[in-house]
Amino acid sequence: MDIMNELPPQHFTAVDDLLAFISIYDDRARTDAYLNMLRAHAGDIRNRVCVDAGSGLGLFAEEMARLGAKKVYAIERNPALYELCSTRLRTYPNVKCIQADIRDWQPPEPVSVFVHDFFGQLLYDEDLYVLKNLPYSPGIFLPDRAELWVGSTRSQQLEDGVVTRDVIAHLKGVLVSGLFDEEGLDLQQRVIEWRPGFFQNEITVDVSRLEGDLLYFGLVLKDGEKVMCQAGRCSNWSFVWTPRTGNRFRLKFEPSERGSAVYFEWVA
Ligand SMILES: C[S@@+](CC[C@H](N)C(=O)[O-])C[C@H]1O[C@@H](n2cnc3c(N)ncnc32)[C@H](O)[C@@H]1O
Repeated sequence: MDIMNELPPQHFTAVDDLLAFISIYDDRARTDAYLNMLRAHAGDIRNRVCVDAGSGLGLFAEEMARLGAKKVYAIERNPALYELCSTRLRTYPNVKCIQADIRDWQPPEPVSVFVHDFFGQLLYDEDLYVLKNLPYSPGIFLPDRAELWVGSTRSQQLEDGVVTRDVIAHLKGVLVSGLFDEEGLDLQQRVIEWRPGFFQNEITVDVSRLEGDLLYFGLVLKDGEKVMCQAGRCSNWSFVWTPRTGNRFRLKFEPSERGSAVYFEWVA
């Protein structure tokens, strides 16, 4: 969904974000995986203070309220999503919706459970960094870890009448999401990970043991050791592709005002 007319920049950003984030609900597998994760943690949630960080429409806040949370703070910075969330959840006495940036909001009481989905296709390319400078320490994060993996394949097995080998050759040094379908491809090597308090913003990776001339990156979300969602199986995260022109690459993320800037290069 794209906005087709000129709007004042602030209005454009607010509506553009709204459209981007409501399309996340097309991915039913992702929503179900999150709801199942919350149900598996019902014992951690019951009678506790919980935060739904970047609550969107507030589905996770609602589930935590249903699971008996003492209080749920649903924090959303987008004004339209905040309003939609407030309206949806107005009948839950134990839910408070707040329009704020999660970095600026100070909870009025200790937080036991902190639920979030700040994961980009390349793990750190969305808002994960906001968790680095939270002004308080929640008891647990849900999910509490995620990993970026890479695999390699032969382009001739995937190229079609449009995305041919010649087209792929023009993408050297470029990371492109959704270039091909993920079907039948396994993620083969872990690249980088995130856990609360553990942020890697730069890594050099050796992929010499992988075969093929086309790399693909994919996100894996985990709740403890259990895989709860991953790129390709949850359509919200597609694989990110690039032609392979070496055996070692450097990936770097620099936090910026909205999400992170991503730098990628092949190295000797
Ligand atoms: C990927 S969506 C997830 C929405 C919702 N949690 C869900 O999964 O259904 C991320 C949401 O976080 C919000 N968001 C991103 N960064 C934020 C921040 N720093 N503070 C508050 N909200 C933020 C976005 O506006 C968006 O609604």
